[in-house]
Amino acid sequence: MCADKKIIMITGATRGIGFAAAQLLGSRDATVVIGSRDRERAESAASKLGCHFVQLDICDQRSVNSAATLLTERFGRLDVLVNNSAILLDHYASLLDLKPEVLCETLETNLIGTLRVTQAFLSLLQQSPSPRIINLSSGAG
Ligand SMILES: NC(=O)c1ccc[n+]([C@@H]2O[C@H](COP(=O)([O-])OP(=O)(O)OC[C@H]3O[C@@H](n4cnc5c(N)ncnc54)[C@H](OP(=O)(O)O)[C@@H]3O)[C@@H](O)[C@H]2O)c1
Repeated sequence: MCADKKIIMITGATRGIGFAAAQLLGSRDATVVIGSRDRERAESAASKLGCHFVQLDICDQRSVNSAATLLTERFGRLDVLVNNSAILLDHYASLLDLKPEVLCETLETNLIGTLRVTQAFLSLLQQSPSPRIINLSSGAG
C-alpha cells in the first residue's frame, strides 16, 4: 500500500451506488474498503472490485467497533468515510401516513447508524492530513 494513496471506506457497498462508487474510486488509485453486513457478499464484491472489505452492520455497535479496530490495525488512518448504507422501506408513504415502526427502523439505520459509524471512525479520520466525511441522502431523508 502506497503511503500517499487515499484510504476510503464506503459503507454498504456490495451493490448500488456504493458499489459503483467503490469501482470508480478504486480506478483512481485509492485504497478502497467496502462494508457489508454479510461476509460472503462483501468478499464476493471485494474480489470483483479488487478492494478490501470489512463486515459492518451500522445498527450494531460491536460490529462498528470491530470494523474501526480492524481498519486501525491495517491502515492506521482513514482519509474518506462515505456513509452510503441506508434503507428505504416504504417508497410511497408520505410522512403523514408512514407507520411509526417503519419510521423507527428507518431512523435507527439511516440516522443513528450513520452517527454511530461516524463517531467510531472519527479518531481514525483524525490521523489523516485532510479527512473527509461524505454523507449520502435522498428526497426521503
Ligand atoms: N437509488 C437512488 O435512487 C438514490 C437516490 C438518492 C439517494 N440515494 C442514497 O444513496 C445511498 C445508496 O443507495 P442505493 O440505492 O445504492 O441503495 P441499495 O442498493 O439499497 O444499497 C444500500 C446498501 O446499504 C446497506 N445497508 C443497509 N442496512 C445496513 C446496515 N444495517 N448496516 C450496514 N449496511 C447496511 C446494504 O448493504 P448490505 O446489505 O450488504 O449490508 C446495501 O448495500 C443511500 O444512502 C440512499 O439514500 C439513493
